[in-house]
Amino acid sequence: MALEVVDLVVDVEGKRVIDRVSLEVERGRIVALMGPNGSGKTSLVYAIMGHPRYEVVSGDIILDGESIKELPTHKRVLKGVMLGFQNPVEVPGVKLSTLIIAARNKLDGKSELLKIDPSVFSEIKKYREIVGVSDELLYREANVGFSGGEKKRAEILQLVSLRPKYILLDEPDSGLDVDGVRDVARAVETLREDGRGILIITHYARILEFLEPDEVLVLVDGRIVDRGGPELARRIEREGYEAYLSHS
Ligand SMILES: Nc1ncnc2c1ncn2[C@@H]1O[C@H](COP(=O)(O)OP(=O)(O)O)[C@@H](O)[C@H]1O
Ligand SMILES: [Mg+2]
Repeated sequence: MALEVVDLVVDVEGKRVIDRVSLEVERGRIVALMGPNGSGKTSLVYAIMGHPRYEVVSGDIILDGESIKELPTHKRVLKGVMLGFQNPVEVPGVKLSTLIIAARNKLDGKSELLKIDPSVFSEIKKYREIVGVSDELLYREANVGFSGGEKKRAEILQLVSLRPKYILLDEPDSGLDVDGVRDVARAVETLREDGRGILIITHYARILEFLEPDEVLVLVDGRIVDRGGPELARRIEREGYEAYLSHS
């Protein structure tokens, strides 16, 4: 069981941003996608999610053996692939807890969206502790007046509470202090142990100090230019991307 990107070519605004990228995220594994700014990391995850401005020119996106390339975004989500946003939106008037429970019930196909199943509630509570979201935050309006770190933690909590089969995280370590990065890493580790497949985008290898990826991919100019194990992330943290950049 895997999320596969096969020989994918993506254009945005007539510009090639992803050029024949192939990768595979198996369940129970963490794949780290690294690369300098502007190399196409966000474009790749947008294309996987079916963002309308990211045109798939050729190649395919396969979820557990089935192409999802032609599906609209919400259908991809229902199939079990989700993206963590870099800037979570504020939802005035709706408690964070309500948002999470309603979304979870919707995904589980329940008709009463606000009814809390006790087992789901205890599961969310477990994640809440791992991610470091306080009880108080859970009962405040979602993201309203949250600090940067609180927003990020709340975002990760929402995502893990929905238990997607595959989870795409776009720089979840950005804007977090070291404790935040460690908590997010711990939540991601829980997802791996739970048998979820994780694609984690990171520019700096910071989060990888707390998280051992199963595979590291390096994206430069829309192409995968290197692949390896955790040692590759450590090398990039030491030396940067200099070795991959042509100076023509
Ligand atoms: N919506 C867009 N409109 C125009 N250009 C875009 C758009 N999204 C991405 N790009 C361009 O595609 C390239 C890759 O960007 P991006 O995927 O954001 O890279 P990364 O996430 O690795 O920093 C950049 O040159 C960027 O300017
Ligand atoms: Mg980006």
